[in-house]
Amino acid sequence: MGTLIEFKEVCKYYVMGDTTVKAADHISMKIDRGEFVAIVGQSGSGKSTCMNIIGCLDVPTSGTYLLDGRDVGKLNKNELAEIRNRMLGFIFQQYNLLPKLDLIENVEVPLMYAGVGRAERRQRAQEVLESVGLGDKLGNKPNELSGGQQQRVSIARALVGRPAVILADEPTGALDSHTSREVLGLLKELHSQGNTVVLITHDNSIAMQADRIIRLEDGRVVYDGDSRAPGAVVQVQIPVAEPQSKPAEDGPQAAAEDDGPQAAAEDETQIAGGGA
Ligand SMILES: Nc1ncnc2c1ncn2[C@@H]1O[C@H](COP(=O)(O)OP(=O)(O)OP(=O)(O)O)[C@@H](O)[C@H]1O
Ligand SMILES: [Mg+2]
Repeated sequence: MGTLIEFKEVCKYYVMGDTTVKAADHISMKIDRGEFVAIVGQSGSGKSTCMNIIGCLDVPTSGTYLLDGRDVGKLNKNELAEIRNRMLGFIFQQYNLLPKLDLIENVEVPLMYAGVGRAERRQRAQEVLESVGLGDKLGNKPNELSGGQQQRVSIARALVGRPAVILADEPTGALDSHTSREVLGLLKELHSQGNTVVLITHDNSIAMQADRIIRLEDGRVVYDGDSRAPGAVVQVQIPVAEPQSKPAEDGPQAAAEDDGPQAAAEDETQIAGGGA
């Protein structure tokens, strides 16, 4: 299929006074054309950092990001904007629709930036809105739609430029479980039509809808593989018997005995999230 996205030892560090936050810490991975990959991890694990780098919204502190073979770190602002417009379709938790524009106009926006003529813009916006099941609402305003419908508009807007990659950051975060399933179904369908989909989520049951999971912890990849393999599921955080924070009298002894419980915790895994 060919590699579309490649991270080589990508780091993103934030220096905050004396401390350095390693939001991405030597991340290496490849995503091929046509894959459906979920990047999953807890809050603060570095998902949005990765999404921003993949989406050419930000560049690494060190390491290399190749998008379709181009070294994104070497591009200037204009080139980044150009590659973003041409290669990427974004879907966010907040739909970011323009309230004064009707649906067809909302979906046309990326094509305006791309310099597509009016007639073609209309036609493509209409087609893609029809494809997400909103053909009967072309002239409605976003606030006349349900949350799930609004998210479908934002998916249509992401698709209309025929991007190489669809990047979805917590796309179901604001939706109820039924509507979430619908939106995930739509992403799966897009994938089955040949699109490359990168889904970012903290929710394991959602991540398992993808074919492959890349799990992050503290800015590092701790799992990369089949979403149905046993290793894709979460390590249960068994609270390791911490040194009791009792009064200082027995501090040193408590700190010395910390071998056993961790070893026991290592085998414990659990099916993530418990189904959608
Ligand atoms: N602009 C910034 N300045 C300083 N630290 C930052 C900045 N952006 C992110 N971080 C830190 O980098 C780490 C990773 O953040 P990131 O936003 O990538 O996490 P996330 O996995 O997307 O979390 P969430 O699920 O809460 O959205 C966090 O510790 C965060 O506090
Ligand atoms: Mg985030």
